[in-house]
Amino acid sequence: MASATGREHWGSRIGVILAVAGSAVGLGNFLRFPGLAAQNGGGAFMLPYFISLLVLGIPLCWAEWTMGRYGGTRGFNSAPGVFTVVWRHPLAKYFGGLALMIPMVIYMYYVLIEAWCLGYALSYLTGEMTQPNQNFSQFFNQFVGIEEDGALLAPQNRMRLLGFGLVFVLNFVLIYRGVSKGIELLCKFAMPLMAVLAIIVLVRVLTLGAPDPSKPEQTVVAGLGFMWNPNAEKLWDPATWLAASGQIFFSLSVGFGIIVNYASYLKRNDDIALSGLTSCSVNEFFEVCLGGLITVPAAFIFLGDQAAQFTGSTFGLGFNALPNVFARMWGGQFFGFLWFFMLFLAAITSSVSMLQPVIAFLEEGFGLRRHASVALLGLITALGCGYVAYFSKGLVALDTFDFWVGSVMILLLALVQSILYGWALGIERGHKEAHQGAHIRIPWFVQLMLKYMVPVYLLAMLIPFCVNNVPKYALTISKDPVALGSILFLAVILAFLLVMIHIAGKRWTADGRFAQLDLEERKKGEATL
Ligand code: ALA
Repeated sequence: MASATGREHWGSRIGVILAVAGSAVGLGNFLRFPGLAAQNGGGAFMLPYFISLLVLGIPLCWAEWTMGRYGGTRGFNSAPGVFTVVWRHPLAKYFGGLALMIPMVIYMYYVLIEAWCLGYALSYLTGEMTQPNQNFSQFFNQFVGIEEDGALLAPQNRMRLLGFGLVFVLNFVLIYRGVSKGIELLCKFAMPLMAVLAIIVLVRVLTLGAPDPSKPEQTVVAGLGFMWNPNAEKLWDPATWLAASGQIFFSLSVGFGIIVNYASYLKRNDDIALSGLTSCSVNEFFEVCLGGLITVPAAFIFLGDQAAQFTGSTFGLGFNALPNVFARMWGGQFFGFLWFFMLFLAAITSSVSMLQPVIAFLEEGFGLRRHASVALLGLITALGCGYVAYFSKGLVALDTFDFWVGSVMILLLALVQSILYGWALGIERGHKEAHQGAHIRIPWFVQLMLKYMVPVYLLAMLIPFCVNNVPKYALTISKDPVALGSILFLAVILAFLLVMIHIAGKRWTADGRFAQLDLEERKKGEATL
């Protein structure tokens, strides 16, 4: 919805909450979380998980909402603009490059997995997945082309290629319709539908009992125990804490550059304190209550301890273990369809949110109209998606993008944002700003946490993480031309974005955008004296 000033705005309060929650609830909730929890101590994982949620996730989420609305009400929707409004320094805009790169690159592989989900849902619908003696691991390997590069181009995979193309285009159609008529409308329908579908599958799983008479010990309760019994030893392992924090960021879409952009479409007196907390709570409901109770317990009931072999890989669990489960379950074809269609909905409400930050930048940085910004971003992401889809052998390209951008850069952007909020905007101003139109009060200690604790916590994680993992990955890269190509690809994208930001910054300065803001702020300061 465009306002009288021509700027876009959300249509309703519930709409923006559902849009942010839609961005948060995704494959991370249903595939990444259960596997990580089962691998990292089950119930014991929940301690670092909830600490990370309270100490990092929710405070940073509020900081992103606050900075986003602060920048938005001063005329900027893209991170380079918003960061410069917050920190009036020539370097600020370049840090915004991270907040463009992260969603754009994650989109490049996320949309591919989204297409797999739709493909699997359709395969259930047509009965392809429920054919007798179907080998699900082989099916998955062929489906994603894990054995050789370029497999998607083979004549027998034409339909899959077409499906991928359609999912890609669908995202752009939604984004072309705009914030209110595209993203908000989608989330208003998809979020409730997703909840209903997930609850149906959950009820089916929890009422399975012990379906295999020859294995009476494989019950729902034992499945829940397999997932949730705490392995306290894991609490002493730093990797568990790192996995928990990484999951909180990935799952809440914090450190993605998305919330800053979404919040910039709010009006000055729109609530952010309660809305931010509500969207986090919705995400946690989907993650812990639905994701945590379906995937791993279901796999255990049918596969017993063998389920453990699938928890190590994000996709193994969803795409290999669960089809085995549906194959042995009464009504498996129907529940299999519901599950993968639900995953597709979860994925699309997240993937559209990854496009909007760059669209906003192209429009406000270069004065592009919507069709031009959508076409340009379509071209760039098509190259990236094509790269990930083509180099499918061993999913090397996908994993490389996911490691460097979906893990390392997210932590980096979260660090940058906590410093911008705590030290550039300032916690006094941030606290006041966050309470403009707020329906709840945020305790003052949250501000102190954002200024001191969050950056230190993030640095304490980021440094050992890089020390432990970067050399390992650097070694992999040097041995694998596809991984090396992926890194070069990422470097080119980053360089391209930085040049674009440089040009946009020059345009903003030439148009006197920040000088005008300075003038208005000075006038306001004088008026309050
Ligand atoms: N937050 C999104 C997810 O969990 C990206 O999948």
